[in-house]
Amino acid sequence: MKALRYYGARDIRCEAMDDPAIQDARDAIIRVDRCGICGSDLHIYHGEGFSEDIGFCVGHEAVGEVVEIGRGVNRLRVGDKVMISAAVGCGACTSCLAGNVIHCANNAAGCYGLSSRLQGSQAEAVRVPAADFNAAVIPEGIAADQALMMTDALATAWFGARNADIAVGQTVAVVGLGPIGLLAVESAFIMGAARVYAIDLVPERRRLAEAAGAIALDPVDAVEIIREQTSGRMAEAVVEAVGHARTIDLALRLAGRRGTVSVIGVNQDRKFDFPMARAFAGGLTFRIGTCSVPEEWPALIPLIQSGRLKPEKYISHVMALDDGAKAYDLFDKRADGALKMVLAP
Ligand SMILES: NC(=O)c1ccc[n+]([C@@H]2O[C@H](COP(=O)([O-])OP(=O)(O)OC[C@H]3O[C@@H](n4cnc5c(N)ncnc54)[C@H](O)[C@@H]3O)[C@@H](O)[C@H]2O)c1
Ligand SMILES: [Zn+2]
Ligand SMILES: [Zn+2]
Repeated sequence: MKALRYYGARDIRCEAMDDPAIQDARDAIIRVDRCGICGSDLHIYHGEGFSEDIGFCVGHEAVGEVVEIGRGVNRLRVGDKVMISAAVGCGACTSCLAGNVIHCANNAAGCYGLSSRLQGSQAEAVRVPAADFNAAVIPEGIAADQALMMTDALATAWFGARNADIAVGQTVAVVGLGPIGLLAVESAFIMGAARVYAIDLVPERRRLAEAAGAIALDPVDAVEIIREQTSGRMAEAVVEAVGHARTIDLALRLAGRRGTVSVIGVNQDRKFDFPMARAFAGGLTFRIGTCSVPEEWPALIPLIQSGRLKPEKYISHVMALDDGAKAYDLFDKRADGALKMVLAP
């Protein structure tokens, strides 16, 4: 099959790779219809990924059709159209059963396309372990592109907003307006935010946040403007969707007294100088972590079915898998209006 493989910083190639095969009775093989490029894939692209491996297939957002199942797969059937959760768990331990996939008690937690351990889904096909649990039939009334957004970006945005304890009538700030930050803006409004400040370096992305109803700001003067507009109260809830030390620091500066800061950006700076005195004086709550994707689906499915959320509007490009390297380059440079990049194998 064809697959996008990682060979080093800014070196992603569409090449031949062995077809995935069933390795365990609970596996399924999914023929990929569409796959997305995530901000986390950009970390890999920059050579700041999650392993030292090379040659592995990248990507962890995909929808497709079940083409083969192991004998231990009971719910999925060949021919089913499914969405594949970016977060993988064993599906059998108490942690997975409680929805907390990323803290799987059987150490089966993982994600596709971060190393050779679990090959990625930017390919013509992908092996899904514990497939009854880690993939789900796309619900009625949900289009493939909407389901694709649920495999990671939308679920993570919703999780990030939940972790920020957003309550009705509050002032919220979102730092970073990639697909995840923009969907966090929308999530905040659905959760009842009265005002959402949306902060990014890229003017085009700020305009998209404005279209969603937010007040868009450049990080340079965001603190001063929000201080002035809230008479010093700042934001009650802040979502950080970048992952740099400086943006986490900005998020902490934007939080008012007893505010909550929720970090979903994947940490690129391994260390961070936590402003203890400020957090202590403000009585801040700080949360950080990875989204257990299927845990968010029960809330998101009806929101999409009813038309309240239209996550597919942030898909800017649909390109052939052969053009994968070009798609990464555009996304990296934020060129040509690149936002959620989708590949069609
Ligand atoms: N926690 C999780 O479970 C989880 C899941 C998926 C992705 N992520 C992470 O979420 C983050 C966002 O993903 P995405 O797909 O939206 O990526 P993206 O790269 O499209 O978005 C990042 C945005 O941050 C902005 N940015 C960079 N520096 C900034 C600064 N100094 N001030 C303000 N904005 C700044 C960029 O302009 C860009 O718009 C990534 O770090 C990704 O790894 C986390
Ligand atoms: Zn991701
Ligand atoms: Zn488990």
